[in-house]
Amino acid sequence: DWTTGNVIEEQVAAIREQVGDRRAICGLSGGVDSAVAAALVQKAIGSQLTCVYVDHGLMRKGETEQVEKDFVAATGVQLKVVDAEERFLTALKGVSDPEEKRKIIGREFIRVFEQAQAEIIADEGPAVEFLVQGTLYPDVVESGGGTGTANIKSHHNVGGLPEDLEFQLIEPLRQLFKDEVRMVGQELGLPEEIVQRQPFPGPGLGIRIVGEVTKERLDLLRDADAIAREELTAAGLDRDIWQCPVVLLADVRSVGVQGDGRTYGHPIVLRPVSSEDAMTADWSRLPYDVLAKISTRITNEVRDVNRVVLDVTSKPPGTIEWE
Ligand code: XMP
Repeated sequence: DWTTGNVIEEQVAAIREQVGDRRAICGLSGGVDSAVAAALVQKAIGSQLTCVYVDHGLMRKGETEQVEKDFVAATGVQLKVVDAEERFLTALKGVSDPEEKRKIIGREFIRVFEQAQAEIIADEGPAVEFLVQGTLYPDVVESGGGTGTANIKSHHNVGGLPEDLEFQLIEPLRQLFKDEVRMVGQELGLPEEIVQRQPFPGPGLGIRIVGEVTKERLDLLRDADAIAREELTAAGLDRDIWQCPVVLLADVRSVGVQGDGRTYGHPIVLRPVSSEDAMTADWSRLPYDVLAKISTRITNEVRDVNRVVLDVTSKPPGTIEWE
């Protein structure tokens, strides 16, 4: 008999059995999978779990606070937040190429996470033996079903640790589909914003700025993105849309007029898509009045933006993200 209550009960028992009195670490991304996995493990082993959240400065407005405050309040989890914004911005300085950006963000992320992990192990002693992952059933099927261990190389950091630390994985969502994960998250009392969050890429807003990533541009994009999300939610469209990337064309300027003056600002692209699995997608036929509201608000409220354009490309040939 499948109920979220049964799933939670079974997983909690299984995790307790697996971990015993040892310790576990879980990386939080702000997304639903890692949040629900962490909440389940927290329910099972409480303070034997430590979560790590790397703030790379590329999140949308309010998302880091959601993890730091709301998620912690809802679960009571022990959380280590690493503020790595400067480090990421420095590493991304002068870089416009999308693949280059992705590589840099991925590389820095692993370094920062491993360092945090090493610090936790240094604090907690050698009893940290488990790594929590939000692997879902479709991921299991795709990768051929293997379970296992993660080999974490700790070459960048902290003296006195073994070269290779071997973690056993805790994967409490391995039997679940995405909608079931959301139901479990809801049952566990996680904040609605986290449970219902649409897909968001790991490299964050770093791949939604066409051009160099800077703090100013990120702040501008965060404002535009927040307006779009607010209006889509207000119009009740969240469940109809798979996701809606908001993209800043930082290397493009166009002429506009505002008040008495000519402007020369940047375009913002709205990329609302409908999809089943992100492999293919169609552009969402959003109501004109919602698009009009978003456009008016963004051009009025966001400095340096004087134009809003709608992406009407399906996938293929366009990807969902612009980079
Ligand atoms: P594309 O742009 O390839 O995106 O059509 C397909 C889906 O994947 C998400 N995406 C990512 N997710 N790390 C992630 O965790 C990434 O580097 C990444 N790149 C794209 C994208 O948002 C869409 O849902």
